[in-house]
Amino acid sequence: MSTDIWHRWLLDRRFGGDSRQMQRMMDFLTPIRDAVLRNADLHDGDTLLDVGCGDGLIAFGALNTTPVERVIFSDISQDLLEHVQQIVQETEFADRCAFLRASADDINLPNESVEAVTTRSVLIYVKAKQAAFNEFYRVLKPEGRLSIFEPINRFGYPEPAHVFSGYDVTPVEAIAAKIKALYAQLQPIDSDPMLDFDERDLIALAQRAGFREVHLDYQVTIKPKSDDMDWDVMLRIPGNPKIPSLEEAMQQALTAEERKVFIAHLRPMVEEKRGSVRNALAYLYATK
Ligand SMILES: C[S@@+](CC[C@H](N)C(=O)[O-])C[C@H]1O[C@@H](n2cnc3c(N)ncnc32)[C@H](O)[C@@H]1O
Repeated sequence: MSTDIWHRWLLDRRFGGDSRQMQRMMDFLTPIRDAVLRNADLHDGDTLLDVGCGDGLIAFGALNTTPVERVIFSDISQDLLEHVQQIVQETEFADRCAFLRASADDINLPNESVEAVTTRSVLIYVKAKQAAFNEFYRVLKPEGRLSIFEPINRFGYPEPAHVFSGYDVTPVEAIAAKIKALYAQLQPIDSDPMLDFDERDLIALAQRAGFREVHLDYQVTIKPKSDDMDWDVMLRIPGNPKIPSLEEAMQQALTAEERKVFIAHLRPMVEEKRGSVRNALAYLYATK
């Protein structure tokens, strides 16, 4: 059965068919989930709307670890909503869950209908970010809480010409430029929703929407690469659901000879972890 890009990404492509990568991903996401839920400050009797619920990281976390009464799983992907609905039916939570197909910038719920809204790594895919914040504000009850997590991709991208995915590619810069050009064509650096905002924009968006109290925690990491991702796995995992993997991008953008030269340079660097990590993450939480 063919499913949409979101379903394929969350359930399959982001792991590259590798169980260690799946574990690494969960180790990265678990503290993020816990922080988003902590910042949402959920209470007994609350209804939580999780926008862009995906396969339910935040929503199931809320049901399992907080006193929340009701959870609305919401996503634009019908495939993912059907997936989580099927899982929910086999749990004791079934009668406390609802499912809503909606885009973050157009949520078909009445005004003031929930006590909390969460969202993790969804606004990076939404062009109309102000409309999304306005919708979060509109559907929240007075005193309602918003809790968001987003990576700030603008911090690490675009990389300097001699750097590719954190590795020094000075001797093969011209080849790397061809791959970067392919990605930039698909996700233009100055206008793609993944790259068109930073932490200050998140604060401004929340304030403009009307939130009376706004907090932002910003985490920056710059460090040598330490994880032992296999070269094959690196080739197979795209950076996000909308772009090809490195293997696919090399096929599209490079000649056979260029691929050989590029791989001969990059592969040993990846295998010997001779690269660096440079990223920024933001947690925003706000009260109506
Ligand atoms: C990176 S996944 C995150 C999923 C989930 N929040 C989590 O923490 O694992 C992005 C999710 O956003 C959803 N999405 C993409 N565009 C959206 C939009 N405009 N409105 C609502 N959800 C959207 C996708 O279907 C996908 O489930």
